[in-house]
Amino acid sequence: MPSKHCSRGSSTSRSSATTAVSALFLFICTLLAFAQLGAASPQPSRKNAEQRDSPLLTKPRAAKLGDKYLIGIGKADITGPVVEINMAGYASSDQVGTGLRQRLYSRAFIIGEVGNPQSRFIYLVLDTQSGDTAVRNGILEGVAALGSGYSMYGRSNVAVTGTHSHSGPGAWFNYLLPQITSLGFDKQSYQAIVDGAILSVKRAHESLQEGYLDFGTTSISDANLNRSLFAYLANLASERAQYSDSVDKTLTLLRFQRASDLKNIGVLTWFAVHPTSMLGNNTHISGDNKGVAAYLFEQAVKGDSRAADGFVAGFSQANVGDTTPNVLGAYCDDGSSQMCSLETSTCADGKSQSCHGRGPEFRKLDLGVSSCFEIGRRQFAGAKSLYDSLDSTSTAVVGSTIKSFHYFQDMQYYKFPLDNGTIVQTCPAALGYSFAAGTSDGPGAFDFTQGDSGAPNNPLWSVVSGLLKTPSADQVACQAPKPVLLDVGEMSAPYAWSPNIVDIQTLRVGQFIIIVSPVEASTMAGRRWRNAVKAAASKLALAPTGVEPFVILGGPANTYAHYLVTPEEYAIQRYEGASTLYGPWELPAFVNLTLRGLPFLAPGATGAPAPGPTPPDNRKSSLSFITGVVVDSVPIGSGFGQVTAQPKASYARGAVVNATFVGANPRNNLRLESTYAAVERKGSDGSWTQVRSDADWSLVYTWTRTNFVLGYSSVTISWETGADRGDVAGTYRIRYNGDSKPLIGSIKAFTGVTGEFTLV
Ligand SMILES: *[C@@H]1O[C@H](CO)[C@@H](O)[C@H](O)[C@H]1NC(C)=O
Ligand SMILES: *[C@@H]1O[C@H](CO)[C@@H](O)[C@H](O)[C@H]1NC(C)=O
Ligand SMILES: *[C@@H]1O[C@H](CO)[C@@H](O)[C@H](O)[C@H]1NC(C)=O
Ligand SMILES: *[C@@H]1O[C@H](CO)[C@@H](O)[C@H](O)[C@H]1NC(C)=O
Ligand SMILES: *[C@@H]1O[C@H](CO)[C@@H](O)[C@H](O)[C@H]1NC(C)=O
Repeated sequence: MPSKHCSRGSSTSRSSATTAVSALFLFICTLLAFAQLGAASPQPSRKNAEQRDSPLLTKPRAAKLGDKYLIGIGKADITGPVVEINMAGYASSDQVGTGLRQRLYSRAFIIGEVGNPQSRFIYLVLDTQSGDTAVRNGILEGVAALGSGYSMYGRSNVAVTGTHSHSGPGAWFNYLLPQITSLGFDKQSYQAIVDGAILSVKRAHESLQEGYLDFGTTSISDANLNRSLFAYLANLASERAQYSDSVDKTLTLLRFQRASDLKNIGVLTWFAVHPTSMLGNNTHISGDNKGVAAYLFEQAVKGDSRAADGFVAGFSQANVGDTTPNVLGAYCDDGSSQMCSLETSTCADGKSQSCHGRGPEFRKLDLGVSSCFEIGRRQFAGAKSLYDSLDSTSTAVVGSTIKSFHYFQDMQYYKFPLDNGTIVQTCPAALGYSFAAGTSDGPGAFDFTQGDSGAPNNPLWSVVSGLLKTPSADQVACQAPKPVLLDVGEMSAPYAWSPNIVDIQTLRVGQFIIIVSPVEASTMAGRRWRNAVKAAASKLALAPTGVEPFVILGGPANTYAHYLVTPEEYAIQRYEGASTLYGPWELPAFVNLTLRGLPFLAPGATGAPAPGPTPPDNRKSSLSFITGVVVDSVPIGSGFGQVTAQPKASYARGAVVNATFVGANPRNNLRLESTYAAVERKGSDGSWTQVRSDADWSLVYTWTRTNFVLGYSSVTISWETGADRGDVAGTYRIRYNGDSKPLIGSIKAFTGVTGEFTLV
């Protein structure tokens, strides 16, 4: 249907929006830096011509309401095992969880057509490293199992995106490569994400109501920086000249506003920055800078008369590939304090190990916590001020068409024409040599010249390392100039190592078009992809007459296919180019494949693209060398939850309050939608109210195994107080909720409470 510019003349003011195998062994196991494993070009907000001149505006009001949609939002806890599981992102075997700083969430956003239940899509933002084929299958199965009322949701219209946080538990991936450092697949870790995502969808579905959508953009100058400028500079100067920066500084915000009382029920934002603020030696689970931004936003609107209860703020990822949150630049920690080399990010020794990106608070030796908070705060601050100005600056989403398409594409030797007619092809997945070097956000721990000292003991690797293949001649030619290090796309034993089949998906509501990307697009790759979609959308008249299509890119989503760079950047073969799995022509291929689907987003279009080949589902075939909890016990004379170190009697705000308890393994119970740690405040009547929980950035839960054989452990809860964090003077105590596992019998819950202390 073409545009129906709603011209409601409401008088309500809009409270509106790895060549030796042994070397490779070390290679992968110590570094597997698949880690740094990654919107629309700055487009100023522009009102529709129709909006500016509407004669129906009887009251001075800059923005007007767009068309009515069905809108729903939901949030649920996806925090998996916070200890003894390798973390996802940096792919470092050493980075194993020891506790929890901030719970992880799935945030679900549903947009639908009023009166047409079939016309709907769901955009999920998970606090995870990426979307994933196993996780996506689990979510789709679980949503279908919710009942017939959910039959409209499926493969085509559900987008499973990850924020790309490098601070969550791993071991949930469908493919072998990212499972290596985590010693395989862990059902509990996987299930926590799937179950929470399903619950968030249920909540969003149950909250569906009529409402409006509008959007705006803002520039955030100080929250991201180029990480691979040398590659970026390989793009034509004339193309670079079209942009003011080597990364996209634009944050886009889509507001969900219910019709009943024009209160805002949520916002969904996109901004490109690596959630690598927490360093590779941090072992506390959190949502990294995106988790901070969402937390601060949701806190900030509590009690705001314009925000509905249960307001949800999604901070989704964009063309993150070559961005870093280490905005002070990358320096050599080798005593020289020189900047790392532009071309190879190496230091005076010719190696990358001492090159580290510096976040805004890099001098604080707190594993990135302060920098993480600051980069999150900057995203929040930009988003909040945009939100506050929407009523007068936003663009209304108009046009009743809500459509989506999804199909699977096998990227092995896909042939297609470039714009000049030359036929090129993509290749089976492969990683190049620079992949092993890592980036300034997490430099490679492996050094070829150092031989095999310190080879890690990885039982999974012992099983699969013999299965490594030398790339075929076709593959070598196809991937050139990339020197193939890991021929993951030609290895399917014991099961597929990396995806060859990817998800091609795009969503559309009115003029707002979302490319759902399975790859971390580089800045320029994202721009080209969006521009091509925008031009094609205009040609196909996808947006309502007179309204410009607005194109955003979100991801990494649905599966994890590593990076995507431009052909010019690919020729440079830095980390991101080495991690562009399907060869030099991958970007034009993604553009071609997206454009193939676009006609299905046209008003009145019927049918869908052919579904394509089904990717392998390794949930049942995956190896695992992850051991479960055997037993928890306590030293003679003590009990679970007993306080072994009480807080002091009094603290000044700004101090860290610590309490230590006799603990038990948190893997016994994830306590989803609940908490391990709590701060309680004493009321004037002597009653206690919980004021801080695992959801809060400032409350940190640390679990330590004190005797492996006997099963003893301790838990320290640290409350980082501060007046600037809203902490008020008063009387407090700290509670620890745990669950212990006897050798025989069932898991039992317990709780421990400290004595009182005051905060002044
Ligand atoms: C964590 O890593 C950073 C650089 O990556 C280093 O400067 C810092 O000293 C490390 N901290 C600890 C506690 O090992
Ligand atoms: C890219 O980042 C470097 C720091 O790593 C900075 O000095 C430079 O100005 C940035 N370049 C552009 C074009 O933004
Ligand atoms: C995409 O490639 C196919 C061949 O695989 C070709 O038929 C089609 O015209 C291409 N589409 C565009 C928009 O270039
Ligand atoms: C088409 O463009 C590609 C990429 O720039 C180039 O390699 C190829 O030679 C061009 N073909 C023709 C016929 O100009
Ligand atoms: C509090 O406990 C944490 C976690 O064990 C520890 O790192 C920190 O140094 C302690 N701080 C104080 C002030 O005791």
